[in-house]
Amino acid sequence: MGLSLEQRWLGEEGGLVFRILNGGQETLRPARLCLSVTVWPAPDATVRGGRLERVFGTLVEIALDVAIPPGGAHEVAVDRLLRAPANRTHGALAAWFENADGTAHRLRVGDLAPPPGRARGPLKDWPDGRIDLPVSLLPWAATVDVSDFGPAPLLSPAPGTDPTPFAHVAALHRRLFRAAPSPFAMEPAEASGTVVTRQADALPPDGYRIAFGDRIVVAHRDAGGLCHGLTALAQMAHAARTDPRFGFPRAGVIEDAPRFGWRGCHLDVARNVFGAGTVLRLLDVMAWLRMNRLHWHLTDDEGWRLPSRAFPTLATIGARRVRGGPLPPQYADGPDGQAGHYAEADIAAVLARAASHGIAVMPEIDMPGHCTALLASIPGLRDPGETPGSYRSVQGFPDNALNPALPQTYEVVRILLDELARLFPDAPLHVGGDEVDAGSWTASPLVRDLARTEGLDGTQAVQAHFMRRLHGMVAAHGRVMGAWDEAADGGGVRPEGTLLFAWRSVGKTAALIARGYDVVATPGQAYYLDMQEAEGWDNPGAAWAGVSTPEGCYALEPAHGLPDGPGRLVGVQAGIWTEYVDDVAKLNALAFPRLAAVAEAAWTPPEAKSWPRFAALSRLVPQL
Ligand code: ACM
Repeated sequence: MGLSLEQRWLGEEGGLVFRILNGGQETLRPARLCLSVTVWPAPDATVRGGRLERVFGTLVEIALDVAIPPGGAHEVAVDRLLRAPANRTHGALAAWFENADGTAHRLRVGDLAPPPGRARGPLKDWPDGRIDLPVSLLPWAATVDVSDFGPAPLLSPAPGTDPTPFAHVAALHRRLFRAAPSPFAMEPAEASGTVVTRQADALPPDGYRIAFGDRIVVAHRDAGGLCHGLTALAQMAHAARTDPRFGFPRAGVIEDAPRFGWRGCHLDVARNVFGAGTVLRLLDVMAWLRMNRLHWHLTDDEGWRLPSRAFPTLATIGARRVRGGPLPPQYADGPDGQAGHYAEADIAAVLARAASHGIAVMPEIDMPGHCTALLASIPGLRDPGETPGSYRSVQGFPDNALNPALPQTYEVVRILLDELARLFPDAPLHVGGDEVDAGSWTASPLVRDLARTEGLDGTQAVQAHFMRRLHGMVAAHGRVMGAWDEAADGGGVRPEGTLLFAWRSVGKTAALIARGYDVVATPGQAYYLDMQEAEGWDNPGAAWAGVSTPEGCYALEPAHGLPDGPGRLVGVQAGIWTEYVDDVAKLNALAFPRLAAVAEAAWTPPEAKSWPRFAALSRLVPQL
């Protein structure tokens, strides 16, 4: 039976109890218990059954002085926590023993058990929903006025019509639904399914108009509109061929165009790395949902996933979590850690697939906070006079911010941004800016000198000074600088050439627009797909922004209460953070249907939305 760990939370007034069970044949004398947890002991916590040695990110190391005989158990308890656990995933995600000889022994970890009386359910509410028309379109179109439903014909380009966009959508459908019949035939097959495409300057950018009749006429202004029109046909035909609730219209008109220009999805590959194949699949799902921006969160404390010709240690050190190394295992890694970064060829493949769908990829290097992996990889980026451990990020990383007073900080950042601009030739460059701890740099004599000479009052003002330097570097590449909403704090960066991602609250979007910024609304409370989906203990995921139910996520109206300028709401974005997501199954379980809900907020006019219809249609959305 081996070694296992049971864990339970004692409730608001209590702490966590970890019970180690030795199901093996030998007495164990481990040197320490290593736990990977997202709820940490409070600074004044007492640990019973061991001695707290270190907290680093999610890694908690507890020295032990015990012998656990076969069949025996040992309890370690922590009496005070920084935050209360909210669900079964908020205990240890992984646990192992380290022995005096340096070897490690992984423990099988059970879910965190709730205190007595705590409700375990319900799980996410994703009702069957209701359709009033037997048509499957997601996002729903601006105007749908169709009738006379029948079986889906095999759709084929009319003679003389360019088959290339048909082949593109057919290939997308094939990749997304491997076993399903294709909606398109490349050669004319049945007269009823003949599709004529027609360019029409009067239509809006990316818009389309489908007229159903003896032939199907897809009018469009540009290539994007044609692709959206053919995707709409593919969605309707796919549903009609695979689900008896749906048919294909033989009469009427669909008119459609996107609500927002930025229809984004963010993916964090730093906390847990996902291979290029998963990113390609996400791009396909996004294309099916008419999303057009991938925000690729490529660096963080826990890992650096970008290739770098100038700094190869970013791959050999920054992309590897190794026991005993500068980046120890985190999250569900266990003692073997985790490693991975993208090759330049992976990035080229992602950009090529994205471009084929009209999706722009915005890369992010998160600075000046969230830089543990960078600081571990490139020496000389700390103020030698700064007291070590003088601050700690909200995720538990000590001293994790680049130092804005060191000239070499800017030399390194300039090279990294040059590399980023070369790898990603035509999108905004996102430079992070989030969650710099309020105590950052207060113990750095160099930053104190900088603050005095530049008249900077406090950490936020120092950060704003740093962000303004980054803004200049990004602008020198002719790019817009993307940043999290904190880039407006402490005096902030100029609105010109800046695109802010409002995440800390729903109200942030309005506040930033009032100050003149262009904003993408991505409020964690509704659009972060890693948030748990219902109150009950058995729902996995983060909870710091509360609970984001599918219905609540769908219901958020991003333009509600916005001032009339001077900035603009350019769009909305879903956030997939991966602290609790270390495989595709967990990603799917959390991301759907909420990814589709954000897609519909991004595309569909609010008056055309319907939760019961969305609930029904979102079941047909392909997952990763
Ligand atoms: C963020 O969620 N820290 C941008």
